[in-house]
Amino acid sequence: MSIEKLVYGGYGLARQGSRVFLVRYAAPRELVDAEVLEEKKDYSYAQVREVVIPSEVRRTPPCPYYGICGGCQIQHVEYPAQVESKEAILLETLKRIGRIENPRLLDSLRSGQEFGYRIRVQLKVRNGHIGFFRFGEREVVDVAECPVLHRRINDLLGPLRECARHIRELQEIHVTYSPLEDRFLVKFVTPTEIDRAFLKALKEDCLPPEVVGVGDYSKLRTLMNRRYWIGQEHLYVEVGRWRYRLGADSFFQVNYTLWEKFIEAVTDGVSFRKALDLHCGVGFFTIPLSERGNFIEGSDSNGSAVNDAQYNAKLNGRDNVVFVKSDAYRHLKSRGGEVLDLVVLDPPRSGLESGEVDLLVRNRPERILYISCNPSTLARDLRQLLRGGYTLEGVRLVDMFPQTYHVESISYLKLEKP
Ligand SMILES: C[S@@+](CC[C@H](N)C(=O)[O-])C[C@H]1O[C@@H](n2cnc3c(N)ncnc32)[C@H](O)[C@@H]1O
Repeated sequence: MSIEKLVYGGYGLARQGSRVFLVRYAAPRELVDAEVLEEKKDYSYAQVREVVIPSEVRRTPPCPYYGICGGCQIQHVEYPAQVESKEAILLETLKRIGRIENPRLLDSLRSGQEFGYRIRVQLKVRNGHIGFFRFGEREVVDVAECPVLHRRINDLLGPLRECARHIRELQEIHVTYSPLEDRFLVKFVTPTEIDRAFLKALKEDCLPPEVVGVGDYSKLRTLMNRRYWIGQEHLYVEVGRWRYRLGADSFFQVNYTLWEKFIEAVTDGVSFRKALDLHCGVGFFTIPLSERGNFIEGSDSNGSAVNDAQYNAKLNGRDNVVFVKSDAYRHLKSRGGEVLDLVVLDPPRSGLESGEVDLLVRNRPERILYISCNPSTLARDLRQLLRGGYTLEGVRLVDMFPQTYHVESISYLKLEKP
């Protein structure tokens, strides 16, 4: 099969007659012999059996688990070609789903490091194995080390493995690391409660003192439920001249090598009288944005993140920002009729909820900054916003997750006739 390009999911695209093949571990512009794994109505999944004529951008993947572990999909492609492929995927998705022809592609933000960039991770645990799911399966591939993780999280894998041996039915371990403090928070996810005194003893005996807090959680689908917490519940991180407190249950951007550039790309050239940040987390963008205008309101549906954000406003001496716990729809609705200059959106993978775009179009903020981790839902939402009177001034790839297929981006929108 002749591979044209990479597509979303990290697959190589090949065509034979009218049939389309999505080929795992293929690189753009190469010839491979591939085995078909699954036939769908319009396309088939396949996997490279042998590379016949390799792509000029193919490389030997540095990680020994690559191809077995499902955490990374494009490690076999040189980093600059990974970024080029993601740019093309972003533009192609905006065209196919959003009907947006040739949007202006602004300079991509490349990760400061290709490896060692992750400061948060969710490890899977099964039958004593700790690692990540095998590609497309629920079997856990045991990893002694993972090259995309911060070096200090890799140092912790041994002690975590020791802990895991003593916890019955352990399903997941979530780790967050602060490079500023060299401290960790760890969550253990199990279907039944771990005895509190036992977990306290495990923390003291098995884990290094840098693990300052541990929690016992259950998980229903993606919903985490805390049973109890032992020790400190927060970490502090620094991004340029900004400081953030982040709680164990709050979201924080995972790639620390991009933090500063990401904030710059969202705040540069911005000015406003009143702005809203509708998925504010701990105030990652809201607090730096507050310097650029008169007044900004941040909201998030996660109460823990909002508590952190309120704390962070004080920590950074900002008094023209308020934070409220609210879902984006309700917050936007409550501001109907007010003059808004800027709305910042950073929704989860599912994109905006139905009704949110209608409200945006009705409220008519002069500018919208849409930060997205899923090009398909972004394209769907942008299509509606463009129909509602907005123009897309530019779109920028933010390569948050090197070695993986994930595509993060910022879209800069302006109301055509304010
Ligand atoms: C990708 S994170 C971004 C957070 C923040 N902008 C940052 O950069 O750290 C998405 C955030 O949206 C919040 N969220 C999810 N669904 C929401 C909704 N319907 N309304 C408001 N916030 C929501 C989550 O709690 C999470 O903090």
